[in-house]
Amino acid sequence: MATILITGANRGIGLALVECFAARGDRVIATARDPSTVEGLAAVVSRFPDLVEVHALEVTDPVSIAALAARLDDRPLDVLINNAGVIGPQRQSSLDMDFAGWLDTFRVNTLAPLAVAQALLPALRRGDHAKILTVSTAMGSMAAKGSDRVAYRSSKAAVNKVMQCLATDLRGEGIAVAVCHPGWVKTEMGGDGAELTPEMSATGITRIVDRMSIGHSPAFHVWDGTTMQW
Ligand SMILES: NC(=O)c1ccc[n+]([C@@H]2O[C@H](COP(=O)([O-])OP(=O)(O)OC[C@H]3O[C@@H](n4cnc5c(N)ncnc54)[C@H](OP(=O)(O)O)[C@@H]3O)[C@@H](O)[C@H]2O)c1
Repeated sequence: MATILITGANRGIGLALVECFAARGDRVIATARDPSTVEGLAAVVSRFPDLVEVHALEVTDPVSIAALAARLDDRPLDVLINNAGVIGPQRQSSLDMDFAGWLDTFRVNTLAPLAVAQALLPALRRGDHAKILTVSTAMGSMAAKGSDRVAYRSSKAAVNKVMQCLATDLRGEGIAVAVCHPGWVKTEMGGDGAELTPEMSATGITRIVDRMSIGHSPAFHVWDGTTMQW
């Protein structure tokens, strides 16, 4: 039984991940900005009361991150999944950019995953062959075509680089680091026309977590078991 902490766990892919890990008997620390208003998550907790616990976490707030780290006390953490993310502002093309919105996008998608990882490192160091997986996107690959959603693409391309660096710096401690593309998923972000259900994507991500190893750190995984170009 592993202990897995998931950010942005109140809806979408994050919520499906909570259910997937709990259903196979892992212990899940599910975090959400406001745990008092998360019906879907409450339903999962009621099905797995011994396995799922919910904590408040606003990933851009250093005080909130520090409070979560303190609440973990001396417990070990085996897996951190940086899932929380935003698509960014309405205007985000290279010819018409909402620069304040771009900065906010970077705060959530790029800075927060590293801030959360740094704060939880003591707990991860107590874990068993700990792993840090950040949910990125194919849209952030340098090989990806398309020029829409510049704020989103650039924030995910940047977090990919950040996680490559973290992988290098944690290699000696045996902590594996990776990013993944979860597929195009029917969530508030992905929309109704997307290809995958959150459950399909989450199942693929649990397999990625199982396969992650220090020998393949860093890696850019895809939900279907393949890998992709950075
Ligand atoms: N859906 C897709 O097709 C797709 C494709 C590629 C990559 N992704 C990535 O997959 C991840 C999950 O996306 P999703 O589709 O599940 O999106 P979603 O349904 O919009 O859910 C986003 C989650 O992130 C949380 N979040 C956003 N800002 C936060 C903050 N500052 N602090 C804490 N939590 C915050 C949200 O919490 P609130 O409810 O409080 O807002 C929500 O739980 C994201 O990183 C996204 O970029 C999704």
